[in-house]
Amino acid sequence: MWEIARDSQVLDVNSSYAYVLWGRDFSGTSIVALDHDRVVGFVTGYRRPDRQDTLFVWQVAVDADQRGKGVAGRMLDGVLDRLATAGVVRLETTISPDNEASQALFTALARRRGVPISTEELFRPEHFPDSHEAEDLYTVGHRHGG
Ligand SMILES: CC(C)(COP(=O)(O)OP(=O)(O)OC[C@H]1O[C@@H](n2cnc3c(N)ncnc32)[C@H](O)[C@@H]1OP(=O)(O)O)[C@@H](O)C(=O)NCCC(=O)NCCS
Repeated sequence: MWEIARDSQVLDVNSSYAYVLWGRDFSGTSIVALDHDRVVGFVTGYRRPDRQDTLFVWQVAVDADQRGKGVAGRMLDGVLDRLATAGVVRLETTISPDNEASQALFTALARRRGVPISTEELFRPEHFPDSHEAEDLYTVGHRHGG
C-alpha cells in the first residue's frame, strides 16, 4: 500500500508504519486488489467512531498500469457490500477540487448503487500547516438526517 501511494504521485504518502498498522487494526473496513500475488490497489477506510453507520474512505489508489479497468470501483463495492450487514449505509470521503479521477470514481459508485452523492466544503487550505490543497467532503448515500 505504501509503495502504491508513493508511486501515485498524487496521494499523501503516510509512513510505511501507518500502513502496516492500518492493516492490523482496520482490515475489516479496508481492502486490497490482487493481480496474482501482487497488490495492485487498496482502499483504506474506517467506521467513524461517533457514526458507526458511516464508512470514511481515507485513501484509494490503483497502480497506474491497472487503472481504467474498474479495479477501484470493485474494491469500493466490495467494502460496502461486506459492511452492509453491519449497518453501514453511507460512505464519506474527501477529494481535492482538482482530482477528476477520484470525483468520477465516487460519482460512478453512487450511480451504480442507486444512491445520491453530495458534496460540501470540509477542510480549506488554511486548515493545513503546509501547502496542502483543500479537501471537499463527498457523501455517497443519504446524508445524516437526510
Ligand atoms: C482514482 C483511481 C483510484 C481510480 O482507479 P481506477 O481503478 O482506474 O478506477 P475505475 O476503473 O474503477 O473507474 C471508476 C470510474 O471513474 C472513472 N475514471 C477513472 N479514472 C478516470 C480519470 N482519470 N478521468 C476521468 N474519469 C475516470 C471511470 O471512467 C469510471 O467511471 P464509469 O463507471 O462511469 O466509467 C486511480 O486513478 C488512482 O489511483 N489515482 C491516483 C490516486 C488518487 O487520486 N486517489 C484518490 C484520492 S484518495
